[in-house]
Amino acid sequence: MFSRSFARLALAASAALSLCALSASAAAAGPNQCITFDASWNLLAFNFDGKDYTVPSDGLSSSTPAAAITSTGSRPPFDAPSSPPLCYLSQFFNAVYVLNADASDPTSVYMYDITKKSWSKQATTLPGKDKVPLQSFDITRGFGAILDRDTNVFYALTGGEMLSLNLGEQKAATGEAVVWNDVGEMALAKADVEGSGAQGYESPTMALAQNHIHFIGGVPGLKEGDARVFVIHFSYLQPEVQSYGNFPTQHGKTASFFKDTGVQTQFAYIPDDGSATYVVDVISNTTTTLPAPSLKDPGAQYAASPSALVQLSSEGGKISFLSYDQDAKTAKGDWTAITGVPAATNVPGGSSSSSSSATTTTGGTSGSGASGNKTSSAAGGKATGGASAAAGKGENGAVGRGVGVVLGGVMAVLGVVVAGML
Ligand SMILES: *[C@@H]1O[C@H](CO)[C@@H](O)[C@H](O)[C@H]1NC(C)=O
Ligand SMILES: *[C@@H]1O[C@H](CO)[C@@H](O)[C@H](O)[C@H]1NC(C)=O
Repeated sequence: MFSRSFARLALAASAALSLCALSASAAAAGPNQCITFDASWNLLAFNFDGKDYTVPSDGLSSSTPAAAITSTGSRPPFDAPSSPPLCYLSQFFNAVYVLNADASDPTSVYMYDITKKSWSKQATTLPGKDKVPLQSFDITRGFGAILDRDTNVFYALTGGEMLSLNLGEQKAATGEAVVWNDVGEMALAKADVEGSGAQGYESPTMALAQNHIHFIGGVPGLKEGDARVFVIHFSYLQPEVQSYGNFPTQHGKTASFFKDTGVQTQFAYIPDDGSATYVVDVISNTTTTLPAPSLKDPGAQYAASPSALVQLSSEGGKISFLSYDQDAKTAKGDWTAITGVPAATNVPGGSSSSSSSATTTTGGTSGSGASGNKTSSAAGGKATGGASAAAGKGENGAVGRGVGVVLGGVMAVLGVVVAGML
């Protein structure tokens, strides 16, 4: 009897585990849409139920249906299961580069020529496997990247190693693979922090401004308002910590405000708890606090034009925006829904991720939802609540926001099974 119950318990546990794994792969750690702007500041919204749209720069608050710009050819499948597609505007070439949008080809860069509305797929070659950890552009595995406006070079941080990918003047793919270069290890933690280097900063929060990469969001040893700064043009990590006023040390998302001419000098930072919107000005070294997004969504993605910050939520293709004046450093009004783009279901890989929808408001789970390994949640200084702890049990953070609820459900099932046996 005893051994039989034990066997049933073990069976239940293994069923629970496989259920867990199943849910983990189905739950998206973010939207499977992506947003960015074109060089005239029209919003581009990709993969809303398989369609792509553009919203005119002056029409964000209009309910006029957005124009469809879906074209076929080498359009990405947008089916990567665990990590959102990442869209970047190449301002000089009016092109969009999309990372992590193809489950079967995780290392190619999809290119969208905005003027021609045409897609192509650029192969890239990753650095030697033993040397650096880049295997894909999956943010749940600690991948973070910015596209430098002036040089059109991607800089990515993964596993503490900086890599670069020079896309030259490309609006479209060439027949030859572009090679990722190994820039070197970033010793980001403050010198007096034990194990300085990438440890504790596996899920980077990176922001571009003034041709510098700003590392925020939980760099070990840094206090509120501090950043480590990498100078792109000299490939140089400044040894000093730079203070920009006041913003939390929590993992989060960023978007740089473009300018009509010249390099970006201000970036938005939204911590994963969605408690406020911060805008960091790297010329005046100050931070302005703006209204929090209406939707507190650690899996959300952001994009910015010169005058608008846009949030794409991780569920249902919901988009909203905040008008921002870079000169006055004030928001005009509050966050407003963009209704011209139709809602979308989130179906990475064709499987429903509805199980994760209930968790959208769970505070603090995000480290995983947004990017990455659970260790980063702790590093971000906000491993609050049980959901985070639950995420820590999942395998790779890839599980995202779903895991808390999924695990909760598994526990409930186990509880019933155990109760039934007693
Ligand atoms: C994420 O965690 C996995 C194991 O849980 C580990 O193998 C991997 O190196 C981690 N990734 C990063 C970027 O730290
Ligand atoms: C901002 O900080 C940098 C580096 O510490 C300094 O060189 C610059 O003068 C500061 N800017 C202002 C406006 O204080």
